[in-house]
Amino acid sequence: MSDRKRISRRTFLMYSLMGTGGFLAATILTPLVRFAIDPALKAKEESDWIPVGDISEFGPEPTKVDFKVKQVDGWYESEVPQTAWITVENGEVLALSPICKHLGCTVNWNGSPDHPNQYFCPCHYGFYEKNGKNVPGTPPSAPLDEYETKVEGTTVYLGKIVPNRLVRG
Ligand code: FES
Repeated sequence: MSDRKRISRRTFLMYSLMGTGGFLAATILTPLVRFAIDPALKAKEESDWIPVGDISEFGPEPTKVDFKVKQVDGWYESEVPQTAWITVENGEVLALSPICKHLGCTVNWNGSPDHPNQYFCPCHYGFYEKNGKNVPGTPPSAPLDEYETKVEGTTVYLGKIVPNRLVRG
């Protein structure tokens, strides 16, 4: 006679159903869960370089350039409008962010007739020099940020916004 413990037909059927059910649940749920959380887990792509024009279009006088950056926020993709003020002097490209470092208004080159050749923020009368340095005695306490730049061929590309490298606030 065998020592092995016999299992009833009912127990065998229950184990079989549990095993099959678990396998089917895992098979169905794994891709669903992956689909649901994949965008959130996906590594953010390196900043895209945006072409903004031929280098011959820019000179020592700041030129305003509007462009759009594709933004992915989880499952939602959008295009965010952005602006840069670009100068090219001695082959060096400088692309400044127009966002005032005081409270985030938008600055304009030569925006105040009383202060030519400066960036002007109309919100609280903030001023910046051409390289983005904040003018002492006005509300901004730091220089304008700048975009990373590169030139390929004759095309100017802008990357991420970084702290101003020419000026330390
Ligand atoms: S937000 Fe620009 S000076 Fe205040």
